[in-house]
Amino acid sequence: MTAARKRTAVLISGRGSNLEALIESARDPSFPAEIALVVANRPEAAGLAFARASGIASSLVDHKIYAGREEFERSLQILLELHQIEFICLAGFMRVLTPWFVRLWEGRMINIHPALLPAYRGLDTHARALADGVKIHGCTVHFVRPALDEGPIIAQAAIPVLDTDTPESLAARVLAEEHRIYPEALARLASGRLKAEGNRVFSGGPIVASSPLRVPFGDDNPQTMETK
Ligand code: GRF
Repeated sequence: MTAARKRTAVLISGRGSNLEALIESARDPSFPAEIALVVANRPEAAGLAFARASGIASSLVDHKIYAGREEFERSLQILLELHQIEFICLAGFMRVLTPWFVRLWEGRMINIHPALLPAYRGLDTHARALADGVKIHGCTVHFVRPALDEGPIIAQAAIPVLDTDTPESLAARVLAEEHRIYPEALARLASGRLKAEGNRVFSGGPIVASSPLRVPFGDDNPQTMETK
């Protein structure tokens, strides 16, 4: 008998392209997580419509109608419990979570950030990377800790910065990598393959890493840089 798929909620605030990537991956019945709930904190979040069209329970918990962060999060928590959620993926969720909520979900809540952490925490990561003249940029999936964009790193993908890059072109190539590593990170979390020791996360099992630029999930993308 195959193990039950882990009931996972995705929290969004906007476009929802990472949500789409997670939903697409989870359509495969052998994927170890099921996207069981999508929650947005903004009514205009486009990802809500995609979730609905995919037949996934989706809810708006509009932070503006709550007196404060804790009230908002208590409402969110009730919803998560009602849907028997085991894991949370933050996917463009633009709301700082309180230490109370983060601790409740410690080890069970992950985030995707559009930079190679610990560089470029916060917003406008692509413009800041270009302004600094870095030659390699990318994205990170990490466990969520109370401090913003901090927490043990599960996976990263890196891309070369091109002379012709603008913040938009860089964002587009990083986003394509986000869509690759986020579902894989969730799969490894949901199948119990991640072990954290301090800040280091070990994926367990065999890892095919033909390109050191997408670590530890290996590479099937010919666009990534050749490295020796
Ligand atoms: C992504 O770049 C993600 O890394 C960041 O917010 C953006 C969300 O994009 N946290 P989308 O809503 O998933 O398209």
